This record gives sequence, structure tokens and C-alpha cells, in this order.
Amino acid sequence: MAEVIRVDSIGVEFSINQHYFHAVDDVSFHIHEGETLGLVGESGSGKSVTSLAIVRLLAKSARVTGTVMYKGRNLLDMTVQEMRQIRGGEISMIFQEPMTSLNPVYKIGAQISETLHLHQRLSKREAHDQVLGMLKKVGIARPEEIMNGYPYQLSGGMRQRVMIAIAMICNPSLLIADEPTTALDVTIQAQILRLMKELSRDYGTSVLLITHDLGVVAEMCDRVAVMYAGQIVEQGTVDDIFFATHHPYTQGLLKAIPKIDVKIKERLQPIDGNVPAITRMPKGCRFSSRCPYVMERCRSEAPAFVDIGERHYSRCWLSAAEGLEK
Ligand SMILES: Nc1ncnc2c1ncn2[C@@H]1O[C@H](COP(=O)(O)OP(=O)(O)O)[C@@H](O)[C@H]1O
Ligand SMILES: [Mg+2]
Repeated sequence: MAEVIRVDSIGVEFSINQHYFHAVDDVSFHIHEGETLGLVGESGSGKSVTSLAIVRLLAKSARVTGTVMYKGRNLLDMTVQEMRQIRGGEISMIFQEPMTSLNPVYKIGAQISETLHLHQRLSKREAHDQVLGMLKKVGIARPEEIMNGYPYQLSGGMRQRVMIAIAMICNPSLLIADEPTTALDVTIQAQILRLMKELSRDYGTSVLLITHDLGVVAEMCDRVAVMYAGQIVEQGTVDDIFFATHHPYTQGLLKAIPKIDVKIKERLQPIDGNVPAITRMPKGCRFSSRCPYVMERCRSEAPAFVDIGERHYSRCWLSAAEGLEK
């Protein structure tokens, strides 16, 4: 299968008190046509910074290195003009909070057709029909009425459906969805995920799905990259990640998935401690300060990202030695 995007060793540094610190360090992945890759990790792992670096939406003060190859060209080398043409058209995005992405003073229909007009030459009539069709596709009842409505008149779930309509209307090659359902109720969350899955399948869209929730990953993804403290620590198919887990961090995330059949008190075993701040990255393995299997070596030497079989990768001294219980 052809690759839609290949991210190769990107790094992002932010300047804090005249020093640069890496928020993202040596991150690489690719996504095939029609494939959904999950980027998962706790809050503060560097998921959003990674996605913003890809679409060049970070502040100018951020230093970005590496390459992001899209259709044979490096997005990081493109002019602002070229990038604008790609963004929203060929590569579209959905973020967590639809209210902040929708403009409160424009009608819904106008906001969706604006994206169309930016990327395609269409008559008013054609644009109107496409917007109407898209609103129907994202499951909005009474689409004519909604087109003439304003964002504040919609529920959170409806607003996210509108955001999906905006993201999909130009039939993008790649959709980047950053925590698209985190702000929604659980039932609405399931509906929105189902919608995204249907649309990406029907349109053959590749998806980079960013989430802190491995439950969402199991539902939606083909492959998974697990991110911790600015690095990918494990990468593989959904089956690799769930059933042949290698990295202790991934194991910790899996233990924290809520299980319906277990009493609330026993439900979650979040990993003790927090993701380190970018100014305080531990020496050696970045997870060493929280890892239940930590060894002497982990605190001084950083493990490499190694192939532990069939394109399943892990960044851990134990998986490097194949000593970790599966
Ligand atoms: N503009 C910025 N300046 C300095 N540090 C930042 C900036 N944006 C993000 N960070 C830091 O980068 C790290 C990764 O952030 P982020 O990508 O938002 O995490 P995630 O999306 O996984 O929750 C965090 O430690 C965050 O504080
Ligand atoms: Mg984020």
C-alpha cells in the first residue's frame, strides 16, 4: 500500500528562559492510504505538538527539525502559501473543542462552504449542494435549517459533526484528529467515532488519530504509536499493542482502561507520577522514574527504538533483551 505521509525524525524545541528544550524528539512514523494510525499517550506527551509541527501551525518561536514527506515533498520546506493550500484541503484537521474552531458570528453553511471555496472553484449553487450533502453525510437532521444557524445553537456533538463536515468536504488525503471526542459525553463520543470511521472508510481517507484513550484506539485504529515524554516508545499493529505489549508504559496505559464489569473502586490503576516537564527530562530512559521494572542501566543510558519483530518496535532495555514477560 502507498504511503500518504512519512514523518522522519522530527524534533520540536521550545525556548524557555533563553534555553531550548525538546517537546518532541526523534519522532518517526508513516501512514498508508486508507489507514488509521493512533498516536496515544498521557496528557503532556507531545502528541499535539507533533501534529501541529506536521501542519506547520506551531508558533514561529518553535524550532522544528526533520522531514515530513507528503506526496514526494517535504511539508517543512514548503512556502506559507503552498502550505495554506494543502492545509484544510489535502490535509484537514479536527480539534478537541469545536466551539473554539467555529467562528461564532458566521452561519454554519458559510463556514463549511468557505473551506470549499478556498480549495475548489465552484459556483454558489454547487457549493450549496455540496455543503447540504455533507451535512446529511455527517448525520445532521434538518440540514437546510442548520446551514442557516449559528454555532451557539448547536450541542457539542452537533458542533463536532459540523467540524467533521468542514474537515471532510474537500475529500482530504489525510485527516488529523486531535482528541476529537474528549470534550463529549460518552454516548455522543461513540457516535462521533462511528461517524469518523464510516466516513474515512467511504472516502478512503488516512487518519492520524490522537487520543489519550486506548479504548478509542482499539475501536478505531489499524496501527498505534505510543508516545511518552516527547518520544515514541512503542509502535505496532493494534494487536501488537494490546496482546503482545512490550513497553512498561504501554502496559501501564492498558491497566488504566476502564472496564465496565469491574467495580468503580477497582477500575483504574493509573501509572504513578506524571509525564516529566520538557525542562526536566530524566537522563537515560525517560520513563525510568515511573517504571515498575526499572534497572540501574535505565537511569543512565537511553534505550534505542528497536524492532522486536515484524515491525513492532519498543524503546526499552527489557524488550531489547527480550526479558519482559508478555
Ligand atoms: N508553546 C509551548 N512552549 C513551551 N512548551 C510547550 C509549548 N507547547 C507545548 N509545550 C510542552 O510540550 C509538551 C507536550 O505538549 P503537548 O504536545 O500539548 O502534549 P499532549 O498533546 O500529548 O497532551 C508539554 O510538556 C507542554 O507543556
Ligand atoms: Mg494534546
